[in-house]
This record gives sequence, structure tokens and C-alpha cells, in this order.
Amino acid sequence: MRQLRPSTIREILKVTAQPEIISFAGGLPAPELFPVEAIRAAADEVLAHSGREALQYGPSEGFPALREWIAEEMKRRGMRVSAAEVLVTNGSQQVLDLAAKLFLNPGDVVLMENPTYLAAIQAFQTFEARFVPVPTDGLGLIPEALPELIRRHRPKFLYTIPNFQNPTGVTLAAERRPILARIAAEHALTVVEDDPYGKLRYRGADIPPVKHWDEDGRVIYASTFSKTIAPGLRLGWLAAPAESFSRLLILKQASDLHTSNFDQRVAHAYLTQNDQPSHLERIRRAYGERFAVMDEALRAEMPAGYEWTHPDGGMFLWVTGPAGLDALTLLEQAIKRQVAFVPGRDFFPAEGGSNYLRLNFSNSTPEQIREGVRRLATLCRDWR
Ligand SMILES: Cc1ncc(COP(=O)(O)O)c(C=O)c1O
Repeated sequence: MRQLRPSTIREILKVTAQPEIISFAGGLPAPELFPVEAIRAAADEVLAHSGREALQYGPSEGFPALREWIAEEMKRRGMRVSAAEVLVTNGSQQVLDLAAKLFLNPGDVVLMENPTYLAAIQAFQTFEARFVPVPTDGLGLIPEALPELIRRHRPKFLYTIPNFQNPTGVTLAAERRPILARIAAEHALTVVEDDPYGKLRYRGADIPPVKHWDEDGRVIYASTFSKTIAPGLRLGWLAAPAESFSRLLILKQASDLHTSNFDQRVAHAYLTQNDQPSHLERIRRAYGERFAVMDEALRAEMPAGYEWTHPDGGMFLWVTGPAGLDALTLLEQAIKRQVAFVPGRDFFPAEGGSNYLRLNFSNSTPEQIREGVRRLATLCRDWR
């Protein structure tokens, strides 16, 4: 516990929940796009037709029909997987916790992008992991750097977010994915591929996940319904080769017996009785528009010395400020002006500067984005 830091983001989120604040902090999907009515109808149907089963305990692996649906969906995205390899979890966050429990003893090394997802750092820190950053550039992690890191550090696994990474929005280039899979096979490296945003692409063509090239059973793939239906359902999943699957299943049982049977059945009814592709298209279009509005506002308003990423999907972009910028102090000033963001420092498991900002564009309207960027840019212009 002594090594754990409280999350700045969760603290900030308490402040930014106030309605008068324009928040680019947090990572919330757009609530106006939640399919509330369709979920209500699905819940009604589940209760009307299988109420007793839905309210009973269920299998730890998950509701069988939902596991089938997930496996089919993964096949459509180019992954060879069967329903038997799918474990339904409480969000994909639980996958990170279970992977940490399975693989990590105190002092064990995890290879990670630097920066990376804050709550993954927390999940692995709970098991006293040591973090070793993998070199990255604008095309994601550099797989050729892995063999030397593996030799030197004997990592328990590599944690990576290949699509529209949190926090940077960067996507691992298509040509690097088979190389990563090959290196993992050659060096017996477990890869935890975290893919919550893969279906939120608003520009360019889809790229198959690393799991697509995983012929050797090295990749544990994680995803979620949090960004495609709603995060309040807390429904995610992992797909893992048989040996890790059976161990992860035991850990899942020890942790919570199973994910809400009722919620899984509601999600399954929703997914099979609605036009999910059209719903996704609405989300993608909205996020693409919001990214474009934020990018345009940043270009119009930000002073020289600031750069930001141009993600093709997902919910975040990553701003690099001038070397002297202290994003935490900037945030204190920003909150007084009623705009919020997340300072980048907490996303670095290893070394990293204080001159970074993560901006979320999925949870604000275009008008809020324009006004919020205007307020933020004024502060950046006045900095020191
Ligand atoms: C990279 C990444 N992984 C996992 C999660 C956890 O999502 P959930 O537990 O809602 O599936 C998030 C949420 O923001 C995320 O950004």
C-alpha cells in the first residue's frame, strides 16, 4: 500500500463533476449516446422471459450466449478465438487485476508504453511490479527494441494498448503488429493486449489486433462494452489460450464468483435485438466530429510551443507543452477558469515530464469544446 499513489484523475473528477466546469478530464463516453431505451426494453425482456435464471447465480466463465457473441465478434475482427477461450469480466479493468494476480510477484517486471493507462499502472503496482518502458514513437511501441529488454529484464509480460492509446491516442502501426507477435512467440513473452477503443475508429481503415497474428498463444486479449454500450454495465472480457484461461478463471472465481448474470443477459438481448452497427456508427461520427472541433480550436487558439496528437479514433488527444510547463499548476489555474484536463505526469510508469496534458473530447459538446479550448489557451498564453 505504501507504494500506491492516489489517482489525480479520480480526485479531479470529483471537482469536474460540477456542471459549470467544462471537463476534458476523465475518460467518460458521451452519455447522450447511451442506448437507454433499448437497454430498458432488453431488461424488460430478460425479466419477462428468463427472470429467474437471470437473477440466479451463473457460471464463472460468463453467460454462454454472450461468450458466443463475443467470440463471433472477435472473429469478425480477424482473431481466431472460440467461445471457450472467452471469460466475461467486470469491465476490462478486472482483466488487468487478474493478469497481475496471475503473473506478478513483488519486483517482477512489466514492459509498458511510457506513458500508459493510469489504472493499469495502479493495478500492477498493487502487486509491487517494476515497470520498464518500451521505446515508442508516433507509430506506437518499437517491437525491435523488445528482445534486448526481454534479455535484460526477464519481464512477466508486456502490457500494450495498440488502438488509440490512453493517454496519447497513438495507434500501433499495422506493420509492427506481426513483428510484435513473432517476437513474443520467439521469446515466450506474454502480451496483454488491452483494446477498449478498437471499435471507435472514425478515420482510416481498421487494423487487426495483435491477437490476429498470435499463432503461438502468447496474447491475452482484453476488451469491453464500456465504450460501445455503456460503462455503468461494467461488462468486459478477456480471451486467453487454454492454460492461462483456466488459471484466470480460478482467480475470477476467488474474486467475485462471476460477473452480474442479469447485466450479461441484458447486454446479450440488447446486442442481438438492435442494430448495433448503426449505434456504433453514431458514436464514431460524434467522436470524429468532436476530435475535429478540438483540433481546429487548438490550432486557432494555442500559442507556439504546443503540439498535440491526431488520433484516428478513441477519446483522447495528448498535448506536449514547452519544457518549462508545469501541467499540475496549470490545472489549478484552469479549474478557477472552469475548465479541466488531466496533467500527464501520472501516466508515466517510468520517467516523464510535467509538460503534458491529456484532453478528452468524447464527453463535451462542440460548443463546450470550443469554449474550453479558448479558456485553456488563454492560460497557456499567460503561462509565466
Ligand atoms: C486503456 C484502458 N483499459 C481499460 C479500461 C477500463 O475500462 P472498463 O473497465 O470500463 O472496461 C480503460 C478505461 O478507460 C482504458 O482506457
